[in-house]
Amino acid sequence: MIRILVLHYSQTGQLTRAVKSLLSPLANRPDVVIVWQNLEPVEPFPFPWGFFRFFDTFPECVHLDPPPIRPVAFGPAARFDLVVLSYQVWFLSPSLPVTAFLKSEAARVLRDTPVITFIACRNMWLSAQEKMKGLLRDLGARLVDNVVLVDQGPPWATFITTPRWVLTGKKNGFWGIFPPAGVSAAEIAAAARFGRALADALPLLQSAQGPLLSGLGAVKVIPGYITGEKIAHRSFRLWGKLLRAIGKPGNPLRRLVLVVYIVFLVAMILTVMPLSIIMRALLRPLLRKRLEAEVARLEAPSGSSTERLAQYS
Ligand SMILES: Cc1cc2nc3c(=O)[nH]c(=O)nc-3n(C[C@H](O)[C@H](O)[C@H](O)COP(=O)(O)O)c2cc1C
Repeated sequence: MIRILVLHYSQTGQLTRAVKSLLSPLANRPDVVIVWQNLEPVEPFPFPWGFFRFFDTFPECVHLDPPPIRPVAFGPAARFDLVVLSYQVWFLSPSLPVTAFLKSEAARVLRDTPVITFIACRNMWLSAQEKMKGLLRDLGARLVDNVVLVDQGPPWATFITTPRWVLTGKKNGFWGIFPPAGVSAAEIAAAARFGRALADALPLLQSAQGPLLSGLGAVKVIPGYITGEKIAHRSFRLWGKLLRAIGKPGNPLRRLVLVVYIVFLVAMILTVMPLSIIMRALLRPLLRKRLEAEVARLEAPSGSSTERLAQYS
């Protein structure tokens, strides 16, 4: 019997639907037991988010300092053959309920265990996954695959539609140019290809050193995002440190400084981000080799190649 643990948390249900789709090909197999563990914050996060509550959450997200979650149903000594760790990105970091789990005693369940990380987010997941890699390494887990689904539509559109969704709850498309927010239903349904490939790879689970889900378009790193994410993450870290030194979330003085930061952030997004993309495009011929190596590193372990798509779609 193969035991798979699935860790999930979702505010709108999107991530849970996506990970259910991924695992659907394994759901009725007599030789597989799937244990679903919802990660439940003791005090639920709001949805939709209030404007200040939303921004006031970034310092703790970035500094991996979560509020507690409710106890999970298994002990740290429980053993599984595979863990599917699904998470969404909050402020270029794993969401707080997932970080809370990874920092809890119960996360010892991941030791010496193959882990597939599965992300559904807007499209900025690089820093979050680097942090996730570090957390998993510290726990002695074995990251075998990473699968990422991103919001539908081009980046300029999701820059509007994703915040509109999380701040107002409105998910619909509008003005004929903005698509609905979130990952498309077709992408979510297509995640089942990973479950089909996983079903075939189960006999290899114990011995697998490399990825089980390569060749299926598991991730796609857009080179132009790399520098922008690094700059934004550094800014989040620095300002987050300052805000945390001022007080806890909700502290009035912290909120005042937060307003200054939001103005700074908007100015940065409108100036530094486009500049970094232009600079990068200009320097691309000189930096090609380095950039390719960086993309390959960030896409590891599963990669962006698609040679097995026809077999499993
Ligand atoms: C507080 C907050 C911060 C977010 N930050 C990011 C981010 O940095 N990068 C990104 O791609 N998506 C970001 N998102 C979008 C989420 O990753 C996710 O797609 C959305 O919240 C829906 O997730 P759900 O399954 O919990 O409903 C953020 C969402 C929230 C609520």
